[in-house]
Amino acid sequence: MQFIKVGNVKDFEIIKIKSYAMLGRKVGVIKRADGSFYAIEVGCKHQGADLTNGTIKDGIATCPRHGWQYDLESGECLNENSSKLRRHELKIEDGVISVSLHPIR
Ligand code: FES
Repeated sequence: MQFIKVGNVKDFEIIKIKSYAMLGRKVGVIKRADGSFYAIEVGCKHQGADLTNGTIKDGIATCPRHGWQYDLESGECLNENSSKLRRHELKIEDGVISVSLHPIR
């Protein structure tokens, strides 16, 4: 599996989510309240808007364009019949965060 270095753990001391462009897709790196990290697509399944530019509250992202809502942990779309946001593998080595180039599920 191919990984891309995207950032450092210390980048997330204040922010909790950051998006990166990978192969034309938007992938978000998210820091949970317990300090763990995961990576998931953040390109809206409707027309591709970056969900990190929308409202995020209690783990639910609302798309800034037309309001589709996603559970950022499970990836499920909550108010439309849409495919899920897929997870990417994430690893941390010496404080450097790397994300798999392709989604894993
Ligand atoms: S682009 Fe996200 S709801 Fe339309």
